[in-house]
Amino acid sequence: MEALKNFGKCPIIFLAVFALLASTLLSLANAKVHEHEFVIQATPVKRLCNTRSAITVNGQLPGPTLEVNNGDTLIVKVINKARYNVTIHWHGVRQIRTGWSDGPEFVTQCPIRPGDSYTYRFTIQGQEGTLWWHAHSSWLRATVYGALIIRPREGQGYPFAKPKRETPIILGEWWDANPIDVLRQAQQTGAAPNISDAYTINGQPGDLYKCSTKETTIVPIDSGETNLLRVINAGLNQPLFFSVANHKLIVVGADASYLKPFTTSVIMLGPGQTTDVLITGDQPPSRYYMAARAYQSAQNAPFDNTTTTAILDYKSAPCPAKGTLAPKPLMPLLPAYNDTNTVTAFSRSFRSPRRVDVPAEIDENLFFTIGLGLNNCPPNFSKNQCQGPNGTRFTASMNNVSFILPNSISILQAHHLGVPGVFTTDFPVQPPVKFDYTGNVSRSLWQPVAGTKVAKIRYGSRVQIVLQDTSIVTPENHPIHLHGYDFYIVAEGFGNFDPKKDSSKFNLVDPPMRNTVAVPVNGWAVIRFVADNPGAWIMHCHLDVHIGWGLATVLLVDNGEGLLESIEPPPEDLPLC
Ligand code: C2O
Repeated sequence: MEALKNFGKCPIIFLAVFALLASTLLSLANAKVHEHEFVIQATPVKRLCNTRSAITVNGQLPGPTLEVNNGDTLIVKVINKARYNVTIHWHGVRQIRTGWSDGPEFVTQCPIRPGDSYTYRFTIQGQEGTLWWHAHSSWLRATVYGALIIRPREGQGYPFAKPKRETPIILGEWWDANPIDVLRQAQQTGAAPNISDAYTINGQPGDLYKCSTKETTIVPIDSGETNLLRVINAGLNQPLFFSVANHKLIVVGADASYLKPFTTSVIMLGPGQTTDVLITGDQPPSRYYMAARAYQSAQNAPFDNTTTTAILDYKSAPCPAKGTLAPKPLMPLLPAYNDTNTVTAFSRSFRSPRRVDVPAEIDENLFFTIGLGLNNCPPNFSKNQCQGPNGTRFTASMNNVSFILPNSISILQAHHLGVPGVFTTDFPVQPPVKFDYTGNVSRSLWQPVAGTKVAKIRYGSRVQIVLQDTSIVTPENHPIHLHGYDFYIVAEGFGNFDPKKDSSKFNLVDPPMRNTVAVPVNGWAVIRFVADNPGAWIMHCHLDVHIGWGLATVLLVDNGEGLLESIEPPPEDLPLC
């Protein structure tokens, strides 16, 4: 950069450009191709004293951790040997021009049928940190998930001192029953699905559950060294607090974007979110619990209030004398399950490391309400099918549309091939009715309309979306995830979003970049991005219970003009419906 300022010194400019070119070529030459095989299969898994058959990848729970460098290509052949349809989504990967590899069933592909296979191919472009992958079909992601670690390009470092160790910390949710059956039962009754029986860290519930001590996850650390914990909330339906006894956490990234480092004793992750934290072995050598439990913002809703633990184990900790038990690890203090203040303080600490290129002008200004609903019992339904509150059935919506997936072809295929009748493009980009969203909402507004409605977005447009929680049935913190994009979170707040008052609070300097925003309970969040990736991109609440009820929509981004602005042709092996 300095060289470019000395305008008169051509040789120096030349050298600088040459060096830049050479290093670009070098890093391109260094980009690797990683090939993997994922066999989806039924596997006996023992948790909480019981063994049940669970669907896994390659017999592992969590599934394999994929490790790549920014710029690398992944080729993953998924072979479905299970008895369910399946797809795999690479959560947070932008899939620039490769929407066919995104994975949500009936959005970008038909599911992979039992006995069939499909190969996902995509390149990591400009993302660094922690992402993950999971099934995007029914509730299979309860056990079909794993970490996707993206390190800087070869020869480049982290924007913080290189940690001595790195450990993925994957938070999960475990049911003693088959999660597919749990979902099916809820679909039949119209009631909320059964809550989970345990949370897990790297697949293990930990010491506070029956029959689980022996397999507790151990995370090593040494005195004085730093460990980078890549924390992922892979839980199905529960936002979680996470903390480590007596240790500070330095947050350095989230959703594969770096952050201005800040120190905290507790973090909160909605399902779908990841957070990278540094932890240093600066305490007396011993054993300390790391623990996770629910952040529950919905009112009068049952939730799993158990606590999962793993053990941070100092390698230099003295061994217990022969015949005596190791002392019990110290337990961290976790916030109360409804401690929204802690969540707010945490999320308001997020900043990008430096000034970023957030769109200042907006071409598409969208406003989406997000929330639950209750459908009256349809006349042809029996009482058993309407076991929601007061004989209703649970539902959910964005802008009063309860999203229904197609079932004969995916939205992206229908769009690409021009197949009519699969979806309509009339998703309302403003609430059809304006009301006091976070107040006492009239019952007449509790029943959304069902439909497969998508919102068309012009290629290249600068988009703002206000995500507004509603208090219908109950307000709740919803983790809203957008496929195909990272976005800036320019503001969040409580109550009804007020463009006059709240626009002045926008951070257009160094807002954090994410792919999943935890929209405050009874509040709102504003996101911005440039629609530079053509495709059909689902935007949904990452609480799986809410996806099924329809808390989703699809943004359909057209191709641009240039060759590199169009989606690639569909792969030959794209599954048929
Ligand atoms: Cu992590 Cu649509 O998913």
